[in-house]
Amino acid sequence: MSRLDGLRMLVVGGASGIGRATVDRARDLGAQVAVLDRAPPAVDAGGGSLHLRGDATDPEVVATQVGAAVEALGGLDALVHTAGVHDGFRDLVEYPVTDLADVCSELWRVNVTSALLAVRAALPALHRSEHASVTLTSSESGFGARGGGAPYTASKWAVRGLVDHLAAELAPAIRVNGVAPGGTSGTSLRGVGSTPAEIGARPGRDEDLLGTTKLRRRIEAADVAGAYTYLASPSLARVITGVIINVDGGRNTV
Ligand SMILES: NC(=O)c1ccc[n+]([C@@H]2O[C@H](COP(=O)([O-])OP(=O)(O)OC[C@H]3O[C@@H](n4cnc5c(N)ncnc54)[C@H](O)[C@@H]3O)[C@@H](O)[C@H]2O)c1
Repeated sequence: MSRLDGLRMLVVGGASGIGRATVDRARDLGAQVAVLDRAPPAVDAGGGSLHLRGDATDPEVVATQVGAAVEALGGLDALVHTAGVHDGFRDLVEYPVTDLADVCSELWRVNVTSALLAVRAALPALHRSEHASVTLTSSESGFGARGGGAPYTASKWAVRGLVDHLAAELAPAIRVNGVAPGGTSGTSLRGVGSTPAEIGARPGRDEDLLGTTKLRRRIEAADVAGAYTYLASPSLARVITGVIINVDGGRNTV
């Protein structure tokens, strides 16, 4: 296991679920970690990571809080973006037209725009790092029509576009990669619009997820966290950019 000793990391969306597991894994490996999330830290969060509150879709909040993280950490080497919301798996025909526009707008702002805002705000600090990386969050929905309705799927394909584009635009100074989790147990994943409050709380979700991975193993947030810490590692992922790791138990296979 490669250490991340001294690595300065900011996790946008690190209060719960996959982001929180990534914070824990990175800290176990020796990284100094700050979190930006609109939610407070989880009650069982261990001490030691700086928790900044704020809406990651608000440009002023992002600029201020990324600046605060950079100051507290003494710089920034790794930006991880895991903030996300879901559309509740609805078929298009189920949407009242007015609701559809609002759902698309919020999904885009959280899943796509907030990633760009965070990268933009972090750029000056990342350019001062000798091993800078950005890791964004797509989904198995970014590889096919599974894991969401059309608006969520579109937002996660968009993240693939961001990874591809930014890897080219920010090279050679900054590596840019992504993680595409499959359906993951034990997270919240808030639904937007009139969708269920939390996708993770849907009855029978854990059983459904177990049955649909080729490996017949349930994917936990901790399983996904290792992909983020690998991609942030200056040694292990030294020449990795423009890549998305599917952590989906084989759901992405035909
Ligand atoms: N859980 C899954 O099955 C699954 C599968 C594929 C992809 N993903 C993706 O993984 C990422 C993490 O999801 P999760 O399941 O861990 O969900 P989660 O709800 O547990 O974590 C998401 C975090 O993002 C934060 N957040 C949301 N909107 C925000 C905003 N506007 N400003 C600041 N923080 C905000 C939430 O407060 C929360 O802490 C998301 O991008 C999601 O789309 C999840």
